[in-house]
Amino acid sequence: MTYPNLTVVDHPLVQHKLTIMREQGTSTAGFRRLLREISHLIAYEVTNDLPLVDKTIETPLKTMQGKELGGKKLALVSILRAGNGLLDGILDLIPSARVGFVGLYRDEETLKPVQYYCKLPSDMANRVTIAVDPMLATGNSSAAAIDLLKDAGATDIRFLCLLASPEGVQRMYEAHPDVPVITAALDECLDDNGYIVPGLGDAGDRMFGTK
Ligand code: URA
Repeated sequence: MTYPNLTVVDHPLVQHKLTIMREQGTSTAGFRRLLREISHLIAYEVTNDLPLVDKTIETPLKTMQGKELGGKKLALVSILRAGNGLLDGILDLIPSARVGFVGLYRDEETLKPVQYYCKLPSDMANRVTIAVDPMLATGNSSAAAIDLLKDAGATDIRFLCLLASPEGVQRMYEAHPDVPVITAALDECLDDNGYIVPGLGDAGDRMFGTK
């Protein structure tokens, strides 16, 4: 099955690091470090169409036409709490991006998202927005987060995750066909608790050591 909204970053370094992250014996420190490294590599893909403009600069030897990012400024939006692990790595590469946070928890019975926090840059309409959450599972909270971004005026939105389920990608496509999804892997399915299989478990617990 292919999905028109999905890009899987199958670079060997991404796949290698992801395999270590999936292993249950990987330490919290190792998981966090790998997530940061992998986010650099996936960020490369999610930003590969950002427009460039010419910039005249002086090197120590001569004047030259360099390139710099032009067009809209960026907003990074972390979907709490696990999104923060991806956010840190992307901020390494784009330190001047504005940052927003969306807090949604998943009602464990309905698996539906409930909003508890939303703080976004004021000028979302003028920014390219990269929403980050490591796990695109049911897609319910991701789709709800994108609703909030659109309500705030965002029009050019990309969704960056580490793992996606087919159900989540489909759900995102139905709710937001204009939002590309970039991931390191498309896994098999969801289990009855809404976990991605084979997955890596609870991404937040694994990166913050809370279990
Ligand atoms: N959230 C997680 O952290 N892991 C999953 O597998 C699904 C949702």
